[in-house]
Amino acid sequence: MTRHERMLGALTGQPVDRTPVWFMRQAGRYLPEYMEVRSRVSFLDLCHDPDLAVLVTLQPLDRFDLDAAIIFSDILTIPEAMGQEVQFIKGRGPVLPKPIRSRDDVRALKQPDVADALPVVPESLRRFIKARPDTPILGFAGAPWTLFCYMVEGSGSKNWENAKKMLWTDPEASQELLNRLADMVGDYLQTQVDAGALAVQMFDTWAGALSQEDFKRWALPAAQRALSRVKGAPRLYFTKDSSPFLHLLKSTGADAVGLDWRVDIPMAREILGDMPIQGNLDPIALYAPPEEVARRTRAILKQAGPVGHVFNLGHGVTPNTPIEGVHAMVEAVRSYRHDEA
Ligand code: CP3
Repeated sequence: MTRHERMLGALTGQPVDRTPVWFMRQAGRYLPEYMEVRSRVSFLDLCHDPDLAVLVTLQPLDRFDLDAAIIFSDILTIPEAMGQEVQFIKGRGPVLPKPIRSRDDVRALKQPDVADALPVVPESLRRFIKARPDTPILGFAGAPWTLFCYMVEGSGSKNWENAKKMLWTDPEASQELLNRLADMVGDYLQTQVDAGALAVQMFDTWAGALSQEDFKRWALPAAQRALSRVKGAPRLYFTKDSSPFLHLLKSTGADAVGLDWRVDIPMAREILGDMPIQGNLDPIALYAPPEEVARRTRAILKQAGPVGHVFNLGHGVTPNTPIEGVHAMVEAVRSYRHDEA
């Protein structure tokens, strides 16, 4: 099978010759060659330059035999395109110095045409496909709720106090912002499908910060609204800390679900039925000795079975990850045969 057939097959629940593998943040700070580029270029400049974005997207493919790449960018390019300033501060992560806190702040945001305001990722996708036609490329965007979190809080947060408070004190303005984000996100994902992405992933990293009631009331309808605008390629929906509402993930409109490492795969299979899944090795397990990484990788492959599974980490690879751990994971997936297990 080609990599394209293997990825597409796994994402649509068709039989494949072996489970495909890629991983979140596979282009990033654990790679010395990425750090070399970053010593010359800021993170945001990397996100704004298609040549550099393609260069770093290719880096992990030159080290590991992966079945797909994810285009290099960041979820916060959407708030930027809506007119909100975004900074990346070393050691602090993203900072949005003028957080959205009122209806007027929401109204002051732009709602630009996505093709005009966000041309870099579609252009990077086209260039990647020319450079590496044998490797499927994935597009992505942040989910409306996760973008709302950063835009309202103004930075990462443990408790998302301002973001949640806004839901409850100004539900109308919150709904307006989520609706506007959903439309931006959906259109952005569609431009990526149109540029040749094999599939797209919507990251709802902070879905698990919500109670079940609030997930149903806010994050889920916004995710549905965004995904309903995307046609022509499988749509993956990734959440973190979402074990308590796995049953709700069947109704997002996504074709496949990305699971974090806390999720028990047999339980997920029971709840999600034949919906394809992606995941879910603990990214910190890559710090274990290689034979332990391989053992854990094989355990996940065995639990997930041969159909409807894309191997991945349960969240992004972290900066200090030993490269031997990544090799051990990728090789364990590539050499695994379900019929012999
Ligand atoms: O997966 C990939 O390799 C594709 C590229 C990608 C990045 N960020 C590159 C990145 C993707 C898909 C993202 C998504 C993203 N960005 C999310 C959702 C998924 C997740 O990881 O939870 C979120 C919440 C963000 C916002 C963001 N960007 C944060 C919180 C940070 C700081 C993280 C940290 O560990 O410091 C970033 C920066 C970022 N995004 C880096 C990379 C490679 C590191 C930037 C650097 O080079 O300094």
